[in-house]
Amino acid sequence: MAMVEVGYRFNTFYFALQDKNYDLAQYQFDKIKKAIQNGIIRRPARKTNSERMFLKSPYKKMALALKSKNIQQIEKEYANTKNLCNRCHKAERVPFIKVIDPQYRWQVIK
Ligand code: HEC
Repeated sequence: MAMVEVGYRFNTFYFALQDKNYDLAQYQFDKIKKAIQNGIIRRPARKTNSERMFLKSPYKKMALALKSKNIQQIEKEYANTKNLCNRCHKAERVPFIKVIDPQYRWQVIK
């Protein structure tokens, strides 16, 4: 279920960026990190790709961008994050699971 949580939180994360609520975005991004870390506990074979495509440098860059509140930097890191979600899906042999920009809000918070 780790990835279901990641998808759910990615939705709130995306709209928090749209709303420029960067504290909420950071909160959701940390929950995404935690869900991916929990995923490794269940599937240790995914550790390398999880670290390379999310937990290490990509996570740090997005967190720094959010801290800076620089919209261009945030947009760049968002695009990079989404791209890496999809690269990992290809690497983990689920290329048919394609992450897109969320189309509508799932949450009752903003
Ligand atoms: C470690 C590589 C990896 C990374 C990084 C990754 N995913 Fe996944 N994702 C998977 C795998 C593998 C699956 C197939 C389902 C499973 O085994 O959990 C999956 C499945 C999914 C699903 C479908 C869940 C379902 O069963 O309905 C969603 C949604 C998802 N990922 C979203 C994301 C998003 C958003 C990101 C980026 C923030 C991301 N993933 C990053 C490996 C990854």
